[in-house]
Amino acid sequence: MEVIIYPDKEQAAAAAADYVAGQVKRNPYIVLGLATGETPLGLYKNLIEKNRKGEISFAKASSFNLDEYCGISADNENSYAYYMRKNFFEHIDIKLENTHIPDGSSENPIIACEQYERAIKGAGGVELQILGIGADGHIGFNEPTSSLSSRTRMKTLTEKTIGDNARFFGGDASAVPWHVLTMGIGTIMESEKIVMLAFGESKADAVAGMIEGPITAMLPASVLQTHQTVKVFLDEAAASKLKLAGYYKWVLSRKPIAEW
Ligand code: PGA
Repeated sequence: MEVIIYPDKEQAAAAAADYVAGQVKRNPYIVLGLATGETPLGLYKNLIEKNRKGEISFAKASSFNLDEYCGISADNENSYAYYMRKNFFEHIDIKLENTHIPDGSSENPIIACEQYERAIKGAGGVELQILGIGADGHIGFNEPTSSLSSRTRMKTLTEKTIGDNARFFGGDASAVPWHVLTMGIGTIMESEKIVMLAFGESKADAVAGMIEGPITAMLPASVLQTHQTVKVFLDEAAASKLKLAGYYKWVLSRKPIAEW
């Protein structure tokens, strides 16, 4: 894992956007894995700006989102389909038909999940996956004790995640769906490269466990230690519980080759 620590989340998001933009330039046909929630908003803002200025184009790119709530339609403003349109897709030149989000309103979620897996494979797999981390260490909606080889499937959220996400539902935890469709951990691990973003003190314990703790299904993000190419972009607050923070900064300041 390459751990990249910036003083604040704005600088971390800008650096992550530079890296993602470099990957899009290298392969205009890139298949992106995308995340929702508060964390990637700064990254999306920066990518929108680069697209607006003509520095990068998503016209040939495609995308697969990590997850979606069950039982709410794509028009519902709490759906991740809506989030993606409003916060990213409507502002860039990606073709909407090339964007994919698990169908949380499907009457047959089992088939919808199988089709999602097939669609990812059919597109040649995800090249670059964007991830956030839950305070409980989840990636996608793979909550603690999820199988580390799981595939896209329905999951039941923990009460902690329901509470954390209530802020998107006007603070009303009872409005947050209990069930979601999510790429599995095995699905996520098949992406070629991963960009993990985490900001704020509420993520510090999960980040420390992910990078420096044992690999355990109790903290699903810890499995990323076994992935070949993960860049972790943090602000100081999210990095505050890392034992080797000084070493990660030392490495970054002595980077022999500029990668982006
Ligand atoms: P957040 O969610 O970005 O809204 O904190 C991250 C996650 O749950 O993966």
